[in-house]
Amino acid sequence: MPDDTLFSEVLDPRNRADPYPIYKKLREVPVSRQRDGAYVVSTHAAIRALLFDPRLSSEDLPPSRRPRTGNPLRDWILNPIKNRIATSHRPLIFRDPPDHDTLREFVMKEFTIHRVNGLHGRVGSLVDDLIERCRGRDEVCLVEDLSYPLPVAVICDLLGVPEKDEPQFQKWATQLATALEPDARHDEASRHATVAAFDEISSYMRKLIRRKRRHPADDMLSGLAKPGREGNPSMGDIDLISTAILLLVAGHETTVNLITNGMLTLLRHPDELKKLKADPERAPRLIEELLRYEPPVHFRTRKALGDIKIEGTTIPKGAPVILLFAAGGRDPARFSNPNRFFPDREDNQHFGFGGGLHYCVGAPLARIEAEVALVALCRRLVEPELMADPPPYRSGASLRGPESLGIRISGI
Ligand code: HEM
Repeated sequence: MPDDTLFSEVLDPRNRADPYPIYKKLREVPVSRQRDGAYVVSTHAAIRALLFDPRLSSEDLPPSRRPRTGNPLRDWILNPIKNRIATSHRPLIFRDPPDHDTLREFVMKEFTIHRVNGLHGRVGSLVDDLIERCRGRDEVCLVEDLSYPLPVAVICDLLGVPEKDEPQFQKWATQLATALEPDARHDEASRHATVAAFDEISSYMRKLIRRKRRHPADDMLSGLAKPGREGNPSMGDIDLISTAILLLVAGHETTVNLITNGMLTLLRHPDELKKLKADPERAPRLIEELLRYEPPVHFRTRKALGDIKIEGTTIPKGAPVILLFAAGGRDPARFSNPNRFFPDREDNQHFGFGGGLHYCVGAPLARIEAEVALVALCRRLVEPELMADPPPYRSGASLRGPESLGIRISGI
């Protein structure tokens, strides 16, 4: 008899440091019904099949018991996966075709390889500056000193948010990303803080968009805010605001986790750290292996739009479906020796950036940030040593990563 409470163990913060043994148990039944009626998909083959199945919706997610606030955008943030309003202003990650595809096209037109590669130099100088600030210290907290400030500065640059507003942006990003966690706290105080952050960032973005329309610059927000022409419409203001907030939220916490998990993994595998230091060309493969071995996003939720028969189980219409990407990444049926961190692995088809329709639009940018940061850290931190293993983790089970990562150094 399969255990139908295993997923609650995944959500239990006591298992955050090492959820992989639970994933192993879950994989014994590739598509398992949990007691609350959700279906957890945990093998590589089943996740892959469902990522490309149009009968799974990102839009029509199961209803929530939490009250509405009357503002659809704010409701999306407060109640992200258990969305209950048929609103037309949710961002693309919570939309199905054809609306998803239209919104994604707007974003992809501006999120060009040219624009992303153009950020390479800026990422390098930000990383150097952040490391330089640690000079003279004998310990650093990687999260506070580098992983956290870097991605928000890069997204601000991408969008065209003035540098002076970055600290405020970082606060908003943190508050909103925390609220997006499926297992986020929803007490009155957290709710209040999230509503405040959401209202402030929305009104800030509204003003910024107006400014970009008057004085367009070479940044993504100016591009997205360009007035449309006949046959070539532009995004409405509300969609623009929700897209900008999505880019900030989706691109922040995730990249923080990739860099922090990356350094943690390298410190646990000193040979790999040495190899990367000697040969930075190894970085791209190493990042792919990290996205498989310690992915920043462990799962995403969908809803079945019809009965779906898969791996001998029928997921009934209306059921929530949890795609457990991180379990797929450790599936021995797909990866030999899956619990070994092995950057030289061939054919590393992980779900670190999802797959199918909603494949991460920020993947090329995230790869650049992680490569530049990890190479610089390995080269510049002298005799780095973990101060605590495992480190303390944040509460999130889906966006999973250390809350802090203390590293003892003997110089930079
Ligand atoms: C979608 C992971 C960085 C923007 C996704 C999805 C994953 C993911 C797993 C799929 C969600 C789903 O299937 O429901 C990551 C990771 C990152 C990262 C691990 C860093 C290491 C970024 C960055 C940006 C970004 C830097 C933008 C600045 C987005 C957007 C989507 C998305 C807009 C939605 C795409 C759609 O619905 O079509 N990301 N992401 N991400 N990501 Fe990322």
